[in-house]
Amino acid sequence: MVESLRELLTELEQFGQENDAAISDRLRRMLNITRDTGEFLSVLTQATNAKRVLEIGTSNGYSTLWFAQAAQKIAGHVTTVELSEHKFDMAAKNFERSGLSDYITPLQCDAGELLESVDDSSFDLLFLDSNRSEYLQWWPNIKRVLREGGLLVVDNATSHADEMAAFIELVSADSGFTTCTVPVGKGEFLATRCGG
Ligand SMILES: C[S@@+](CC[C@H](N)C(=O)[O-])C[C@H]1O[C@@H](n2cnc3c(N)ncnc32)[C@H](O)[C@@H]1O
Repeated sequence: MVESLRELLTELEQFGQENDAAISDRLRRMLNITRDTGEFLSVLTQATNAKRVLEIGTSNGYSTLWFAQAAQKIAGHVTTVELSEHKFDMAAKNFERSGLSDYITPLQCDAGELLESVDDSSFDLLFLDSNRSEYLQWWPNIKRVLREGGLLVVDNATSHADEMAAFIELVSADSGFTTCTVPVGKGEFLATRCGG
């Protein structure tokens, strides 16, 4: 990783921690993934050669940058969606600073509406880090837009286990998916679409 990107990631980690400690309004908190989750996502993206990544929940772009630096190495691309105009604008500035803009398509819209409009099997990897109360209703489209052999990764599997339980149960009961939860960061729930 180039030094300037390493420095930007460190700066965003510090900003996220300080901002979120000082602010109680969830809409203004960055709620970023942990660094080890970023490293994990980068390895997953490269190891599975996931050239088409969809991220739901950009915030200020911290996790997107981990996907983008992985995309740069495998000639891939990350599409990331954020509802909040304020956070979308913050992310846009960070993407410009990172020098990785060519690998990122940022969208400011509702993820549910985006998922409705996306073709079947459009993505190799889908990272879900958004409003957990919407995951159950998004599931039919998440399933549809992920290609066979593709990978779903969901953050907060252990940090918010109660809120995630129904979704994890639904996906785990689907015979078309193989699942596990790994103790990285806030807990990552993984589901690969395997047919069946
Ligand atoms: C946990 S934060 C994402 C953190 C980011 N992945 C990171 O690690 O840097 C969740 C984000 O999802 C956004 N969000 C919530 N509901 C959404 C929706 N329906 N469509 C798109 N974004 C949404 C929120 O505004 C918030 O910025």
